[in-house]
Amino acid sequence: MKILVTGGSGYIGSVLIHYLLKEHEVYVLDKFEKNNPSLAFFCSNKSFHIIKGDVRDEKILKSILNRVEMIIPLAALVGAPLCKQDPINAQSTNFDAIKLIVDNISTEQKIIFPTTNSGYGISNNDELCTEDSPLNPISLYGKSKCEAEDLILQSGNGITFRLATVFGMSPQMRLDLIVNDFVYRAMFDSALIIFEGSFRRNFIHIRDVSRAFVHAIDNYERMNNEPFNVGLSSANLTKLELCKKIKEHLPNFTFIESKIGEDPDKRDYLVSNEKIESTGFKPSFSLDDGIKELIKGYASFRTSLFSNV
Ligand SMILES: NC(=O)c1ccc[n+]([C@@H]2O[C@H](COP(=O)([O-])OP(=O)(O)OC[C@H]3O[C@@H](n4cnc5c(N)ncnc54)[C@H](O)[C@@H]3O)[C@@H](O)[C@H]2O)c1
Repeated sequence: MKILVTGGSGYIGSVLIHYLLKEHEVYVLDKFEKNNPSLAFFCSNKSFHIIKGDVRDEKILKSILNRVEMIIPLAALVGAPLCKQDPINAQSTNFDAIKLIVDNISTEQKIIFPTTNSGYGISNNDELCTEDSPLNPISLYGKSKCEAEDLILQSGNGITFRLATVFGMSPQMRLDLIVNDFVYRAMFDSALIIFEGSFRRNFIHIRDVSRAFVHAIDNYERMNNEPFNVGLSSANLTKLELCKKIKEHLPNFTFIESKIGEDPDKRDYLVSNEKIESTGFKPSFSLDDGIKELIKGYASFRTSLFSNV
């Protein structure tokens, strides 16, 4: 199949492309603003194509849409803080560009779209959030992603993934994601002050996210027109539990809880991943695998530009 991946040079894309190229021809449309050659390894592959451009550019987008059978729209301003900082670009990239895709594809062309599970907000006690639980996003990030998901599901042709918070190494690393961030701080600072320590989150390894996309491609007709939670069922953890897990790997790590600070998306939920598991998808990487992998990866780089160590 010919697949367009928008935002394919980002954190998820630069791992996902490796999985897609095993069986498909891949077109990546990205602004490449980070100036990091995260896709360099694939350039020798004849089935890999790069288009440098903006997903909101109708002319560029239409010219590529004509060539592909599937679209995986990853391009977005990701996370509540970034969207708050740049609301106009957030809305136009996270929602308007998705509308442009939906409006310009035929009924034969397929979409698999990742959104966030942060829309579940605060769930009641130990009740698991399923795909039928109400979504109540608070931040512009959550709202723009949920609106885009609605649009795709209303179009009658698309699968949406409500992703848990992703962890693991990628050629285009993100240190703002909670597991990646906490392991980094545990390794280099040995200490962390956390807020809302009892708030529960769900996590998933970046390679399992990529495997979930491949699973949906292979089972498209069966899964079409449905949203799926995509997370690791063994990793519904509070922030404090996550810290304790990291401490098992980095015993010098100390953490304390502060009463000050709050999540802009008020995320405190337990997520059920049963629906995607019932289609035959099973994650392969545990949280422990991810923490070990991050510790190994972080041994090779440190970002403190102005530090003397
Ligand atoms: N990482 C997570 O934990 C997570 C969780 C839930 C959902 N998601 C979703 O997965 C997708 C990918 O996330 P990520 O973590 O790889 O983010 P990322 O920020 O690393 O990657 C986003 C990519 O989109 C590109 N991009 C942004 N605006 C663009 C534009 N106007 N035109 C072309 N390219 C543009 C950027 O250059 C970047 O390469 C996003 O849609 C995000 O909402 C991610």
